Amino acid sequence: MDWGEFRRWSEKAATWGAEYRASLRDRPVRAQTAPGEIAAHIADSPPESGEAMEDIFKDFEDILVPGMTHWQHPRFFAYFPANAAPVSVIAEYLVSAIAAQCMLWQTSPSATELETKVVDWLCQAVGLPGSFTGVIQDSASTATLAAVLVMRERALDWRGNSQGLAANKAVRIYSTDQVHTSIDRAIWISGIGAENLVRIPSGGGPNSAMDTPALAAAIERDRAAGLLPAGVIACVGGTSTGACDDIAAVVEVAHRNGLYVHVDAAWAGSAMICPEFRTLWQGVEQADSVVFNPHKWLGAQFDCSVQFVREPESLVRTLAIHPEYLRTHGHDGIINYSEWSVPLGRRFRALKLWFLLRYHGLEGLRTMIRNHVAWSQTLAERLAAESDFEIVTQPFLSLFSFSHRPSAGVDQESHTQRLIAAINNDGRIYLTQTRVGGRLVVRFQAGQFETTAEDVDIAFATIVEIARSLPSV
Ligand SMILES: Cc1ncc(COP(=O)(O)O)c(C=O)c1O
Repeated sequence: MDWGEFRRWSEKAATWGAEYRASLRDRPVRAQTAPGEIAAHIADSPPESGEAMEDIFKDFEDILVPGMTHWQHPRFFAYFPANAAPVSVIAEYLVSAIAAQCMLWQTSPSATELETKVVDWLCQAVGLPGSFTGVIQDSASTATLAAVLVMRERALDWRGNSQGLAANKAVRIYSTDQVHTSIDRAIWISGIGAENLVRIPSGGGPNSAMDTPALAAAIERDRAAGLLPAGVIACVGGTSTGACDDIAAVVEVAHRNGLYVHVDAAWAGSAMICPEFRTLWQGVEQADSVVFNPHKWLGAQFDCSVQFVREPESLVRTLAIHPEYLRTHGHDGIINYSEWSVPLGRRFRALKLWFLLRYHGLEGLRTMIRNHVAWSQTLAERLAAESDFEIVTQPFLSLFSFSHRPSAGVDQESHTQRLIAAINNDGRIYLTQTRVGGRLVVRFQAGQFETTAEDVDIAFATIVEIARSLPSV
């Protein structure tokens, strides 16, 4: 591709992107395709000769776009959002063009130094003390894995990486059953083993917190049994219904016992730019590691996960490795962020944060988050006022769950399944399900960057209309 052609197709891609984003309200939110339908249109073998860009681009539009679920659709109310504010997309265009691999300071000094700055900006933005520093990871899963590895190494007196786990006492990690499955995976991958992830009761209710006296008792019991308590993973805004641990109480028990505390606020962390929500993670300034995903609710294009740590030395001691080919002679005192994360290679993720924070300012982003919380609350109130709807878990920030009563003789579980399928096949909105106390319920969150109050009104009208028109079998 010569540079003239590169320019022409780059301009075409940018124009396509702008038109695509502007047209989203006219598209069904969730892809309306059957499994295998897209693959049937893709050649079975790679071409021997190059093809024309016109043909490639046309196939992209004709074959692939209809099979996309539109995460940037203003009526995406499923899962958690993966917001990409337009300004962060522009930053990603630039990052793609530069295509730097930012593993060491010297492989991209601007990327490293900007990362230090924007992580510090975010630290201030969410109200964490200046004693925290941090790193941009690809995902919360990676950040949690890094934290679990630190827990393991601290507990094993830094011998786990060299000796493995077999020769040592079993390492124990504590959490409730409300944490995300990325915690389970971190426990598997770190070699600690699922049997050593101790589930502490969370008091019973759907939005309830870890029972900290039970945590203290479990640590004591494990010690007495010759096991090695290493760390606690607390959550603020659990994925299912927004469960929230009392961070101050968790930290008090954990630190009294010498344990490391990691807080997973992957989704809810963005809301902490609003001072009025910070009581939800009171005590977080005492935690050892905190992760939140600006790629979820803040508007930084996926992927962008920030891990704050109180003392980076433990992270670096756990993860840094120095073969000769990675040494950067003559640059003592510099930061090589690949020593703070599991993958060596790193994208230039700081740029989209810099563009986002500068373009919208914290006040602009706070307004977005406050609107989502208020609109969600209003929707929950409107549904609660309808006699055939029940709010099962009250809004935690912008997340709540509800149920619709089926007509007599119809099983609740299959009615809920059919309701969710019918709503998502309709295409005006997209939402998903969860289980609360064993019961299947509809889960709703508002968090897309372009969502308006009218979009949430459409959600209300769609839910009520479809729920009441479902055939009774
Ligand atoms: C609370 C929580 N933690 C962690 C994750 C995992 O995030 P990531 O996809 O960045 O690994 C999620 C994903 O939704 C989540 O909701």
